[in-house]
Amino acid sequence: MTQLSRPRCVSGIKPTGLPHWGNYFGMIRPAIELAETHDAFYFIADLHALTSVRDAASLRADSLGVAATLLACGLDPARTVLWRQSDVPEVLELTWLLSCVTGLGLVERAHAYKDAQSKGKETNVGVFSYPVLMAADILCYDADAVPVGKDQLQHIEMTRDMATFFNVAFFGAPAGGTVDEAAPWDGRMLKRPRGVVRQNAALVPGLDGQKMSKSYGNHIPLFVGPKELKQRVMAIVTDSTPLEAPKDPTTCNVLALYRLFASAGEVAELEARYRAGGFGFGHAKLALLAQAEAAFAPMRARYDALMADPDGIEAVLQAGGGRARTVARGVIERVRSACGLRARSEG
Ligand code: ADP
Ligand code: TRP
Repeated sequence: MTQLSRPRCVSGIKPTGLPHWGNYFGMIRPAIELAETHDAFYFIADLHALTSVRDAASLRADSLGVAATLLACGLDPARTVLWRQSDVPEVLELTWLLSCVTGLGLVERAHAYKDAQSKGKETNVGVFSYPVLMAADILCYDADAVPVGKDQLQHIEMTRDMATFFNVAFFGAPAGGTVDEAAPWDGRMLKRPRGVVRQNAALVPGLDGQKMSKSYGNHIPLFVGPKELKQRVMAIVTDSTPLEAPKDPTTCNVLALYRLFASAGEVAELEARYRAGGFGFGHAKLALLAQAEAAFAPMRARYDALMADPDGIEAVLQAGGGRARTVARGVIERVRSACGLRARSEG
């Protein structure tokens, strides 16, 4: 059972395809570890996925697939609340209320939107309001901590700003960002969360050395079979230093990924082999492959078993949705009444 006295952590992951190593080391594993010390609330961000997904069948399948991935990686549904974002409509209500106190300037500074603008890409209102929905996701559950990869930190900062705007407007909080760690949360206001980023996995490189991302096509999916895994690992880009020559261990993509799996001793040993020469990148890739297989094969087996029983995954999500909704309703009651809307409990 969850314990009420523990701090709460909240995070979401979009069902836009199946998770890869970057998602695992940057978000999934830290989130599961944080659940040891926090009351953990994690959701499948299907509403956010709809800013880009246009295929209902893949949204459905990926929602189950991502949920199964979290469970296979060790998330314990008895101690963690796991649900689908869209099963808690209160989040959309809070999105609107936050939109009404948030200046356009703040949202226009969001990296994803600015990026789309600068590339002249046609975008939609959902991409623009993405950070407001994300703030609502977090504030709707009185989160203390939000485990994410580094690229999401700007969104957490924006969430803190939006909470302050709302608290200043409707709870009489002092303006100027003073509703901070220094000033205690009074239990009625929106709670300002902090982002939790794992420094050693803040940015997992992809096959080409850039940030690993589904959208760059440079990713290694978590649960591919051994054959495809080998193909992917062998495709990691390295420089052309010949096999006999000593190699620089600080700049190699293979080693950067190896460090995520291996113990300090194993890493030191491989680094020494690089420096000594006579050890090729192909050898390093095989060492990485062995580590990845050892780490992920048992999870892959659990994933396959979970996916063979979609009703079981659905049952976990439904139960989680009910628990999440109870918390969100409490927060919505507070904010409805603060801003002059009729609180539902008023009948
Ligand atoms: P993608 O870029 O593949 O679409 P998402 O944006 O859906 O991945 O990311 C989901 C979560 O995984 C976020 O918390 C994000 O910060 C984290 N994440 C994604 N890619 C990486 C990476 N290469 N390194 C570290 N964390 C990552
Ligand atoms: N924007 C996050 C991503 O792209 C997903 C997300 C949606 C999220 N809502 C959230 C993460 C709330 C943390 C908290 O990965």
